Amino acid sequence: MSKVEVPLDKVHRLISSGAVVLVTAEYKGRANVMAAAWVTPISHKPPLVALAIHPERYTHELIKRSGAFILNVPGRPLLEQVYKCGTLSGADVEDKFVAAGLTRGAGQQVDAPWVEECLAHLECGVVTAYETGDHTLFIGEVQGAWAEEEAFAETWTLADEEVKPLHQLGGSLFAILAEPLEAAPPAES
Ligand SMILES: Cc1cc2nc3c(=O)[nH]c(=O)nc-3n(C[C@H](O)[C@H](O)[C@H](O)COP(=O)(O)O)c2cc1C
Repeated sequence: MSKVEVPLDKVHRLISSGAVVLVTAEYKGRANVMAAAWVTPISHKPPLVALAIHPERYTHELIKRSGAFILNVPGRPLLEQVYKCGTLSGADVEDKFVAAGLTRGAGQQVDAPWVEECLAHLECGVVTAYETGDHTLFIGEVQGAWAEEEAFAETWTLADEEVKPLHQLGGSLFAILAEPLEAAPPAES
């Protein structure tokens, strides 16, 4: 094997192929949904997540004003809808849920909508936000979360394609995980 140098504008792709989410937010009756890959858990107690959103996204304004967002986890069947939510702006369409063929449901604990077709929903209240380079890092505390029984049982089950979360490799290229692999316990020395 030989190593090739990776251009700086692509380095994030080496480490950011975690599950893609559909971020939803709502302010004064205006709701929106966008795709996001730059999202990660950052604390157990309290349960915190970090979400990097570019200030030009319409969703950025909704989160900033409402102080809440929901991370909806789409599965394999939503590939095309996810890409649409990641290429179309809510600033340019009447209703991105309708444009992407997604169903808006009511959030349980925060004022933001569920994407009903998604496998899981993490409802978050913004606790703080930082300007990080050209993105804003929203830190959200998870107020409540729900997942499809078949898809998630302490971990993602990966039971079949329908219930596998989507991962973005870069641009319009996505992937799903193949199967769970369990590591053997480390041998005692
Ligand atoms: C799979 C995927 C992941 C994305 N991840 C992010 C992200 O983490 N942060 C971000 O600011 N934009 C991200 N984008 C781009 C936004 O989703 C895109 O600009 C979208 O049109 C913004 O919608 P809005 O203006 O309605 O908020 C991603 C796009 C795709 C397709």
